[in-house]
Amino acid sequence: MDTPIREERPARKIILAGLAVLLVVLLVVFGVYQMRHSDPYIQSVLSSQGDSDRGQVIFQQNCSVCHGLNADGRVGPSLHHVGSRKTRIGLIHQVTSGQTPPMPQFQPSPQEMADLLKYLETL
Ligand code: HEC
Repeated sequence: MDTPIREERPARKIILAGLAVLLVVLLVVFGVYQMRHSDPYIQSVLSSQGDSDRGQVIFQQNCSVCHGLNADGRVGPSLHHVGSRKTRIGLIHQVTSGQTPPMPQFQPSPQEMADLLKYLETL
């Protein structure tokens, strides 16, 4: 008696392959997330109490040339509400990675970075 198994198999394989790909993607995303969270610099920044007034001074000295004195944008984009577009880790990465030229790579101390974060979150 003919069974429809032969016709079903290819579909099942595609589904399984899809699940495997999904699993790998999830693992990679989770891995990167874990890696960023366990980075000692990030740990140190996130556990420091930031001060937005000091953050504003650091911002005006280092960032305002491009982002404007009030972070309303010049060469670089306006940073108003940037805290709702990017995660804290995303913001730290943006400042310290140097991956989006012409924005330079900054190396603030964990305390300075915590201050900057606090300030950025007030915008
Ligand atoms: C030389 C100019 C320049 C300086 C100085 C600079 N930036 Fe930027 N910044 C840019 C540019 C250009 C972009 C857009 C990069 C892109 O996404 O391609 C950007 C993007 C950003 C973003 C992401 C904005 C978004 O909407 O995703 C943040 C946050 C940021 N900068 C913060 C800072 C901080 C904090 C400093 C100071 C420590 C700083 N920048 C100094 C040019 C600069």
